[in-house]
Amino acid sequence: MAPLLQDTTSLEVPVSLPRARFGHANHVFRAGALFASGFAIFLVARHAMVPSDFGVYGFYRSGALGDAAARPLAFAGQSACFDCHDAVVAARHGGRHERIRCEACHGPLATHASGDSDARPKELSPRDLCLTCHLKSAGKPGAVPQIMPSDHAPEGPCTACHPPHNPKVG
Ligand code: HEC
Ligand code: HEC
Ligand code: HEC
Ligand code: HEC
Repeated sequence: MAPLLQDTTSLEVPVSLPRARFGHANHVFRAGALFASGFAIFLVARHAMVPSDFGVYGFYRSGALGDAAARPLAFAGQSACFDCHDAVVAARHGGRHERIRCEACHGPLATHASGDSDARPKELSPRDLCLTCHLKSAGKPGAVPQIMPSDHAPEGPCTACHPPHNPKVG
């Protein structure tokens, strides 16, 4: 039978000279050296990867301002639409869709509104478009009137009854 209590002194590893001098501090030095080299690699990689104009004005690349400004405008803003579409403006007057911006339904139309292009606005779905806002859902704000299409109008275009620019029936 093996003895329950072993003589632990016999398990001691023979110590070499530097180990003897620093003793257990060696473990701390090794971990420290590993951490320091990891940090050095991080600094080198960061220097290589972060663009030189980063952080000039804030936590972003200052050149991004120029890049964003150079992108073509997508939305004209609805005051631009008013210049040419008086009839629609008149039709919307007083209706509950009056507050909804033209491009919320018609999509971005800066090219069309610039006037010097014959880019036609794309045709809208007279049913799917309406349901993106009016389909009943508990998560929607109460101010948006909501319907269940299965009860309200199971098929066909919503515009058969509701004129899109002034949707009240009758
Ligand atoms: C410079 C004048 C001008 C501006 C600004 C303008 N439009 Fe138009 N738009 C027109 C003309 C002209 C037509 C008719 C084109 C045709 O029938 O070929 C038209 C047609 C349309 C049509 C119908 C397309 C079709 O196929 O029947 C829609 C929708 C439309 N515009 C939406 C808008 C919206 C939204 C804006 C604002 C972002 C806008 N327009 C700004 C001149 C303008
Ligand atoms: C709630 C969504 C919605 C909004 C907001 C909206 N439209 Fe429309 N618009 C439509 C739909 C849908 C049609 C297609 C009607 C059809 O095919 O019967 C349409 C058709 C048109 C047309 C072509 C037919 C027509 O009635 O003259 C023009 C031009 C137009 N819209 C311009 C505008 C302008 C300008 C604005 C903002 C002042 C605007 N729309 C706002 C949904 C909208
Ligand atoms: C971008 C979201 C949006 C789209 C798209 C949209 N609506 Fe609306 N609609 C609204 C909001 C918001 C109101 C309520 C506005 C308010 O109370 O000021 C409203 C109101 C209405 C009303 C109530 C009118 C009244 O006087 O009681 C009807 C009906 C309606 N919409 C039908 C439609 C139809 C049909 C379409 C498709 C052609 C459509 N809507 C597309 C947002 C939308
Ligand atoms: C057969 C005619 C008809 C069709 C098609 C129709 N509706 Fe209506 N809808 C009505 C009537 C009538 C009312 C009640 C009067 C009003 O508010 O304009 C109404 C009311 C509404 C309201 C207001 C509800 C409220 O609580 O105030 C919304 C939103 C609406 N409809 C959306 C739609 C949508 C979206 C479609 C297409 C999926 C559609 N409707 C198709 C006739 C119709």
